[in-house]
Amino acid sequence: MTSQIIPVEPFDFVMFGATGDLAERKLLPALYRRQAAGQFSEPTKIIGASRSKMTDEEYRAFARNAISEHVKGEEIDAAELGRFIERLSYLPVDAKSGDGFAELKKAIGDSDRIRVFYLAVAPELFGSFADHLKAQGLISANARIVVEKPIGRDLASAKSLNDRIGADFREQQIFRIDHYLGKETVQNLMALRFANALYEPLWNSAHIDHVQITVAETVGLEGRAGYYDKAGALRDMVQNHMLQLLCLMAMEPPASMDADAVRDEKLKVLRALKRINGNEAPRVTVRGQYRAGASANGPVKGYAEELANGDSQTETFVAIKAEIANWRWAGVPFYLRTGKRLAQRVSEIVIEFKQIPHSIFGDSAGRIEANQLVIRLQPGEGVKQWLMIKDPGPGGMRLRHVPLDMSFAQAFEVRNPDAYERLIMDVVRGNQTLFMRRDEVEAAWRWIDPILAAWEDGPQEAQGYTAGTWGPSASIALIERDGRTWHESN
Ligand code: BG6
Repeated sequence: MTSQIIPVEPFDFVMFGATGDLAERKLLPALYRRQAAGQFSEPTKIIGASRSKMTDEEYRAFARNAISEHVKGEEIDAAELGRFIERLSYLPVDAKSGDGFAELKKAIGDSDRIRVFYLAVAPELFGSFADHLKAQGLISANARIVVEKPIGRDLASAKSLNDRIGADFREQQIFRIDHYLGKETVQNLMALRFANALYEPLWNSAHIDHVQITVAETVGLEGRAGYYDKAGALRDMVQNHMLQLLCLMAMEPPASMDADAVRDEKLKVLRALKRINGNEAPRVTVRGQYRAGASANGPVKGYAEELANGDSQTETFVAIKAEIANWRWAGVPFYLRTGKRLAQRVSEIVIEFKQIPHSIFGDSAGRIEANQLVIRLQPGEGVKQWLMIKDPGPGGMRLRHVPLDMSFAQAFEVRNPDAYERLIMDVVRGNQTLFMRRDEVEAAWRWIDPILAAWEDGPQEAQGYTAGTWGPSASIALIERDGRTWHESN
């Protein structure tokens, strides 16, 4: 089965931070793959820009290496790669001094083609980039700007960052990336909910007991200590990715897939999240930090040792019992859990339905488990609907909990595209459905800020957990206090 490709209009793609990690690992490979899939129309240009002094040829060599390293050999076609490399050029620019922006203007010219300015740079520089683009008259009606998280480190800083960009670009031109929204299975959550009649009548507190959202990683700091130690898991993962997953899971059906229809519904969920204040935080939040332990590749250092700072209280693990105070979800806990150096790399949403009201089967039938719908985002994308069935064979009525299992890799023999491929094409198309609107980002911070404040001001220290485990014991206690357990992935 091949996926359907709808070509996009020709565009100029300016990548600021062109020699950085994101460009190397994600953006260049994603652009190459979209070209190889036949999605580009001519003439499409890609301009790399960063502070490094480089010639076009040097940048092309950088891009060739990046693609060879981060795209599988069998996906690379030498002639296609050659054509891709030819559309690349490079310009040194400096957002502080403004050097290079006049040259950029010359390189782009006055065309009314779609132009994308991708800011793969530190957020402190977003405002300066936007100002220089404006000063050069580069913000045409067809211009879009793309920014990556972190959008602020609390509500106040997020607002001022949004103000800075908003002074130069209209909201309809601003694409705030949360790459989780570009993941295939995250979009499948919407398909599952709104393209099937089966689940929606059950999607509420009358039928759902609770929801678990886990984003577990086995990696540690990955050389990002400078950023991560100032952020921590709450800012790095919960404020954006986890809350976005929660919104898609919990929102009311939007009237359409229009960007604002979807984002209006997500916003209502964020606004309905019950605030967690200083008194409640120790009971419904857990912050952890990994200690020395093991990964699949052998022993690993603890966070503080990796950082060479024994005093850091930065959390590498968070668990939260969140609640949504509205008619649909009152009384249904949403347990969120994310961390680095955990036992397994797995991201999934588990929806646990309520128990049957009464069993007609005797004790010999065994325990009747609640139905669960498990949406696996990665790895091994797919959906499992756990049901009770009769154990086959004679010998009485014994019951078993088994999954109806739909693995997407088996169902569709196509490569699962990387989130950036989808998202970059959506930017070119001007489709903001999978991008965060300003008010969403700010509403998410409004919920996060009191938790940050409770942790900063209160007695709740980051609890140690051994690398390679499922986090601090307090995380297990958080859910077990409610008579529930974390879903065991397999
Ligand atoms: C990023 C975080 O946004 O998401 C990282 O900054 C994290 O800390 C990453 O590792 C996880 O993304 P993925 O796609 O690998 O699950």
